[in-house]
Amino acid sequence: MGKLFAPPSSTPCTRTHQIGALALIAITFFTTRLLDQSLTPSTSFSSHFIGDKYESDVTRVLNDGVSVQWPSRGYGAEINLKIYVYDENEIDGLKLLLYGRDGSILPEKCVKGQWGTQVKIHKLLLKSRFRTHKKADADLFFVPSYVKCVRMMGGLNDKEINQAYVKVLSQMPYFRLSGGRDHIFVFPSGAGAHLFKSWATYINRSIILTPEGDRTDKRDTSAFNTWKDIIIPGNVDDGMTTNGVRFVEPLPLSKRKYLANYLGRAQGKIGRLQLIDLAKQFPDKLESPELKFSGPDKLGRTDYFLHLRNAKFCLAPRGESSWTLRFYESFFVECVPVLLSDHAELPFQNVVDYSQISIKWPSSRIGTQLLEYLESIPDKRLEEMIAHGRRIRCLWVYGPDSEPCSAFSGILWELQRKTRRFHHSPETFWLHNGSIVNRDLVEFYKWKPPMPLP
Ligand SMILES: *[C@@H]1O[C@H](CO)[C@@H](O)[C@H](O)[C@H]1NC(C)=O
Ligand SMILES: *[C@@H]1O[C@H](CO)[C@@H](O)[C@H](O)[C@H]1NC(C)=O
Repeated sequence: MGKLFAPPSSTPCTRTHQIGALALIAITFFTTRLLDQSLTPSTSFSSHFIGDKYESDVTRVLNDGVSVQWPSRGYGAEINLKIYVYDENEIDGLKLLLYGRDGSILPEKCVKGQWGTQVKIHKLLLKSRFRTHKKADADLFFVPSYVKCVRMMGGLNDKEINQAYVKVLSQMPYFRLSGGRDHIFVFPSGAGAHLFKSWATYINRSIILTPEGDRTDKRDTSAFNTWKDIIIPGNVDDGMTTNGVRFVEPLPLSKRKYLANYLGRAQGKIGRLQLIDLAKQFPDKLESPELKFSGPDKLGRTDYFLHLRNAKFCLAPRGESSWTLRFYESFFVECVPVLLSDHAELPFQNVVDYSQISIKWPSSRIGTQLLEYLESIPDKRLEEMIAHGRRIRCLWVYGPDSEPCSAFSGILWELQRKTRRFHHSPETFWLHNGSIVNRDLVEFYKWKPPMPLP
C-alpha cells in the first residue's frame, strides 16, 4: 500500500514526465490569458464594481462590435457545434405541433409577442452555420414546436398536445438512443415544459430552453433544472431592438417625468395591486395608469414604449409567473429595471453581472420604502447602470449567429457547454465493438419506429 499513486518504474511515464506535462499546461494557460488580456481593448466599464475574478470575461463580452466571447472556462474558445433540426415532413405529427390540427396557425402570427422565441430560435437555427443535415454527426437535436402559440390560438388542446408529442418522440431513434439527453425543446412561456403535460415522463432529461426558472407556485414540481436547462431572454418587440430607426428613442434622465413606472394590468396579483395602490398615493412619482390592453382604447405598441421611457426606473413585478418581459424591454428605453419577482431566473448568468445593470428588490417590501430607496440613488449611478445596460442589451436581441452578440449566440454558447461525447439511456446498451443495441440486442441502425418510450 502507499504505492497506489507511484507509477511502476518500468512505465515510460515517470513522475518527471507528469510534472513536465503539468508545467506545460500551466504555461500555455497563462500565456493564453496574457494574450487574451493584451488583445482586449479596454473599456470604460468600471472595475470598481466588478470583482477581479470576472473582470476579463465581462469585459470581453461588453466590447460591443469587437468580439463577444463566453468565458473560456468550460465553454471552449469558439462555438463549434453541430445541431440537427428535425424537418416537419420527416416526423409524422410534427406539423401538428407547428401549425395545429388543421394546419391553420400561421408562424407569422406566432413570431410576434412575448412568446415569439419559439419561432425565432427555430428560424435562426435553420439558417445557422452550426446546423448539420446529418444526424450521425450531430452533437444536439432540435425539436421544433410552436405549441404555446398553437394552444393560445385554439389549434390544439392540452390532450392533443400531449398525444402529438408522444407520437413525435416515438419516431425518433436518436431520441431513444440518448434517452432524450441531446434533444432541445423550446417552451417560451411561464408554464415552461408543463405545456407538454407528460413532460416529466418523456423529456425530463432533455435540454429545455425557457424564460422561466421556477413554477412551483402553481405546480408541485418545477420543470426547470439549473444544470441541464437554459434560461432564454424574452422576445422584445422588433421595432425596439432594431439597429435602425426605433419606434421610440430613450429620453435624457432630466426629461423624464416620473421616478418610476409600472405599466401593466393587475391580474389580481398582490405585488401589482400594491404598486397600483402606491401610484394612487404618489401620482407624481410613480406612474401606473389604467392601460387598456384590449378593446377599442387598446394601447398601441408605440404608446406603451412612450410611457415606459418616461421614468428613471421601470418596475417589473411578477405576473402569472415569475419571469417578466418588462425587465428586457426596459433596456431599450434605458430605464433601470427593478425586478420585483423573488423567484425570477435570468439568462446568461455566467457572463452578465446583473447588479451592474438592474436592481432586485424584495417583493415583500413594495411600498413607500421602495420609492424612498429609489429616490436616494444618485443620477450618476443611474447613468452608469444605463451605460452598462446599453452594452449588454444585444444579448436580448434574437439576431443571427453572424452577429457576435445576440440572444441566439448566447444560447449557442450555453448549448455548447451541454454537449457530451456520449449519451445513453436505461434502454440502450453497447458491446465490445462499439455497437449500440437495444434490450433485444438489435443494432441501432436497425431500430424501427415506433420506438418504445419511457
Ligand atoms: C426528473 O429527473 C430527475 C433525475 O434526472 C428526478 O430527480 C426528478 O424527480 C424527475 N422529475 C420528475 C417530475 O419526474
Ligand atoms: C458487434 O458484435 C456483435 C456481437 O458479437 C455482432 O453481432 C455485431 O455484428 C458486431 N458489430 C459490428 C459493427 O461489428
